[in-house]
Amino acid sequence: MTSNEATLEAIRETQRKSRVQVERIPWSELGPEFVEIWGRNDPENPQPEHMEIVGMNGSGKTYFLCTILQERMLVRDTPTTIIATKPADSTLRSLGWPIVKNPREAHKARQVILWPDTKEIGAARRAYQRKEIYEYLSKLWQPNANTIVAFDEIAYVESLSPEMRDLIEMYWREGRSQGITVIGMKQRPQGANRHMSSESYWTIAYLPKDHDDLERFAELFGSRRQWMPILESMDAENHEFLIRNHRTGVAYISWIDIPLEPIAPEAENKMGTYLGHQNKRNNDL
Ligand SMILES: Nc1ncnc2c1ncn2[C@@H]1O[C@H](COP(=O)(O)OP(=O)(O)OP(=O)(O)O)[C@@H](O)[C@H]1O
Ligand SMILES: [Mg+2]
Repeated sequence: MTSNEATLEAIRETQRKSRVQVERIPWSELGPEFVEIWGRNDPENPQPEHMEIVGMNGSGKTYFLCTILQERMLVRDTPTTIIATKPADSTLRSLGWPIVKNPREAHKARQVILWPDTKEIGAARRAYQRKEIYEYLSKLWQPNANTIVAFDEIAYVESLSPEMRDLIEMYWREGRSQGITVIGMKQRPQGANRHMSSESYWTIAYLPKDHDDLERFAELFGSRRQWMPILESMDAENHEFLIRNHRTGVAYISWIDIPLEPIAPEAENKMGTYLGHQNKRNNDL
């Protein structure tokens, strides 16, 4: 072996060793642990942990969101609002949470979907959504708000006005100090408010549809070379996703293997348990 060949071989060996191994674990196994550790990196001092979820339409983002928020309700009963803006979405409806049209009603419920609905179209529709969502988010901004706010389509909501964009940026940057956990979902990372990625503790990504997207998705996790092959190995048919905690660096490929059954907030809270966890209503968030 020449010295050049030896160097090349040494480089290859380093690359092989640095290749990230990501285990495949179904959500029925990962979920119970996830719901315990989400926002409790230091159990003595629980801190909100924001999350970003990216995937093309139909990949399973809303299904994942509904599953984890239902688990969080069952185990920790955390107050939660999902902000929905699509004209229709059967996945959101299958969660079984109350769907309310205006901020007043949303503030009264513990777990709720705020879906400002109007018969208007075009600019009038956007103006209506802008007013209702802005009012909701402004009022929610309080010390110890202790709540989760999930944007089903964050890029759309941000596009409603520059003021909305600024307000959402403040949620990403400073929400944690108010006890607010932010979840943002979008179809592609491009054009995202950079705070969405830099402030997220958790990233969830589905298999992108083309090579350009694959590069952008991989960059959310780290080096393209390491993460592109992992993303490419996922099975879109099975709604597989990659989930990574950025603080610990731990990542898994998973898929939701438990059906999403509608559970109304009040009804379930009397039920008391979920996958072996005790329901801790009002004890902690
Ligand atoms: N793990 C799963 N098991 C079974 N069906 C699933 C699963 N994940 C998603 N689906 C189904 O796939 C369809 C699309 O899922 P979902 O609504 O979550 O997509 P999405 O990523 O939110 O898409 P969009 O960007 O268009 O909102 C739904 O009909 C949903 O029921
Ligand atoms: Mg969706």
